[in-house]
Amino acid sequence: MDKKTLDALISTAKDAQKHSHAPYSGFHVGAAVLTSSSEILGGCNVESAAYPLGQCAEASAIGNMVTQGHKRITAIVIASPNDDFCFPCGGCRQKIVEFATDDVPVIMVTQQDETHTTTIGELMPHAFRASDIK
Ligand code: THU
Repeated sequence: MDKKTLDALISTAKDAQKHSHAPYSGFHVGAAVLTSSSEILGGCNVESAAYPLGQCAEASAIGNMVTQGHKRITAIVIASPNDDFCFPCGGCRQKIVEFATDDVPVIMVTQQDETHTTTIGELMPHAFRASDIK
């Protein structure tokens, strides 16, 4: 991915992070997905007073992407609210897998703009996929 695209993804994730609704954890997360048609869609975490109903930033970005008519993720960025990388939770790894091949980069960015890149295949080996439903 070129630097301009990465910067745009990070910027979208951080813009979305500003809208995070996290009054219970105080942990504000942003995410952005890049689609196969080079669209960038963002999302933030949305918590609920009924705690288990909270939604992660990755899930919001994916929901935004699908709502806009896109079904292929080619990269995803996750913006943490501190100096540690925010790796996607197990549930979000499965949600990413639904729309991504193993080689898709997952890029974590800190508040200080440090980045760490891995792939969804590294984070979710032997994932259960649509092709497993026979
Ligand atoms: N959270 C995310 O949005 N993404 C992650 O990858 C990890 C956790 C959110 C969920 C909850 O609103 C808050 O962070 C604390 O767990």
